[in-house]
Amino acid sequence: MTKKICVLPGDGIGPEIMAEAVRVLEALDLGFEMETALLGGCAVDATGDPYPEATQKLAQEADAVLLGAVGGPKWDSLPREQRPERGLLGIRKQLNLFANLRPAILYPELANASSLKPEVVAGLDILIVRELTGDIYFGQPRGIEVRDGERFGFNTMHYSESEIRRIGRVAFEAARKRNKKVCSVDKMNVLECTQLWRDVMNELAPEYPDVELTHMLVDNAAMQLVRAPKQFDVLVTGNMFGDILSDEAAMLTGSIGMLPSASLDANNKGLYEPSHGSAPDIAGKGVANPLATILSAAMMLRYTFNMEAAAQKVEGAVKKVLAQGYRTGDIFEPGTTKVGTRQMGDAVLAALAL
Ligand code: IPM
Ligand code: MG
Repeated sequence: MTKKICVLPGDGIGPEIMAEAVRVLEALDLGFEMETALLGGCAVDATGDPYPEATQKLAQEADAVLLGAVGGPKWDSLPREQRPERGLLGIRKQLNLFANLRPAILYPELANASSLKPEVVAGLDILIVRELTGDIYFGQPRGIEVRDGERFGFNTMHYSESEIRRIGRVAFEAARKRNKKVCSVDKMNVLECTQLWRDVMNELAPEYPDVELTHMLVDNAAMQLVRAPKQFDVLVTGNMFGDILSDEAAMLTGSIGMLPSASLDANNKGLYEPSHGSAPDIAGKGVANPLATILSAAMMLRYTFNMEAAAQKVEGAVKKVLAQGYRTGDIFEPGTTKVGTRQMGDAVLAALAL
């Protein structure tokens, strides 16, 4: 059976970084069938819809989706349902990609890129497990309307226990393969919804006696992430807190251009994308860092296709190019070799061939 990948380059630097990830996948020669479609602003421009029918069909048929990035100032003033972000939320929801894995790893070669002291971040390796299809992101009712003669904005935070349980299991299972610690993040001192979150996590814990479960309030978690980030192994939280904390965790490494992510359904079908955005300011210049997208492709090999050896080969090649001193602008420091997007791709391909 051929394995089909839906490729969505998206907006901004998306097409440039995706081209390099596709070259890496082609070089591995694993027999993938890759088909490209539109998502985000480019899809709005072409069809008026950020997640058009044709893309929906392809994404649903494919075994995995590889995404560059979506969005940009050009589309920010469009009606909400036409914004690129709506396309991203649409594909997550439609494909039931409830488990978002966002690793934050500090590569030793890039220790100076972090804004924190090297001793605080050296060896950092955290996995954020963010629930991705529930919470206030999708809760109804929502809107802006006029009440009592003034505008009134509202959203609804909610989680069912089954939604909490299934993301909890992902976190516990992931911890089993790592350092066996799960920290669940909530705001139970104020929000009932997250009291339920904490209760359900506690109910799950006895099924994983080999994993240590702790809890932290989200404000404290935000603080602890910059104070002593190495205390964390797996951090599990809801959609909105996860959105915020995963950006914070990514920046601990100083190089968000290096971080991949996976969004998985219950059968490990997944959407894989770099943790960074579409960087419109440098789009089209050939200077963007393609490594997070290449590493996202490696996560795809691991989680959807069960090709651990191939995944490690790609990750090994990325480590090699860093050791060789190649750096795109975002991670450049004096004494290293500054390269563009294509040259970085070339270096990875060369390292793969070694
Ligand atoms: C992310 C992004 C998205 C989110 C936006 C673009 C809708 O910030 O993937 O973290 O909030 O989930
Ligand atoms: Mg975000």
